[in-house]
Amino acid sequence: MSELILGKTVSESIYAELKERIEALKSKGTTPGLAVVLVGNDPASEVYVRMKGKKCEELGMHSVTITLPEDTAEKDLLKKVSELNNDKNIHGFLVQLPLPSGIDEKTVINAIDPKKDVDCFHPVNVGKMLIGEPEFLPATPAGVQQMLIRSGIETKGKHIVVVGRSNIVGKPMAAMMMQKGDGADSTVTVVHSRTKDLPSITRLADILIVAMGKPNFVTAEMVKDGAVVIDVGTNRVDDPSSAKGSKLVGDVDFEGVKDKVSAISPVPGGVGPMTICMLMANTVSAAEKAVSR
Ligand code: GUN
Repeated sequence: MSELILGKTVSESIYAELKERIEALKSKGTTPGLAVVLVGNDPASEVYVRMKGKKCEELGMHSVTITLPEDTAEKDLLKKVSELNNDKNIHGFLVQLPLPSGIDEKTVINAIDPKKDVDCFHPVNVGKMLIGEPEFLPATPAGVQQMLIRSGIETKGKHIVVVGRSNIVGKPMAAMMMQKGDGADSTVTVVHSRTKDLPSITRLADILIVAMGKPNFVTAEMVKDGAVVIDVGTNRVDDPSSAKGSKLVGDVDFEGVKDKVSAISPVPGGVGPMTICMLMANTVSAAEKAVSR
């Protein structure tokens, strides 16, 4: 059996470090503050937003949740964004996506002060990350990188194949792993839905990072013996045997792949807990930078 890379364990060690940084900030009179704006009542978004607020409380951070109705006009959301840009007690904030139709996501993201953009979705922050001078790192790829670093997995000179090219995971993940420095310095290939003979490329990966959004997409014959596999997928599929009638599965056929690889992250319990953890880390960094400005 291979080693399991568990985001729950990795995030606990990061939270312990964050608590010390939060205490240090508080002793100087600053409580790191995160605001989350939720427009409408998408049930999945409501769950995420509640989890973010709860984690802030656990860490002793200031937390604000702003809930706006489904029929909110874009200009009213932009006004709220502007208020948060100017709120001294809020060091970072995000507008939960997806937004209701009628509100342009790009317009909203572009209105966020890049210094408070703890999602790292603003084009200025994406550009800074690409040139290796990050203001923040996007939460999910940063979480994957921390899982590799804190599991002692060497990335320098290793061939990383990223499966998927989304703006939230695939593209920034590839950009981060090709940077100079510890936890990166990798040779990176990106494959996606239009790639010809994708398995011939995934089989070359020393480290395979999968964010395709397709349940059980990666099977054993697509993975090299002894590779490290990080599964970013979260797909809800029918499961008549469970009380809920459904279950979460990743993009990797975990049962088929697990005995072939040296290390693998499961779903659930793998990357999942890392996203909120890195969002909290970005908020603490934003507060530290605000204090030193
Ligand atoms: N919706 C799902 N994940 C995210 C996220 O990380 N940030 C934002 N703003 N919206 C999301």
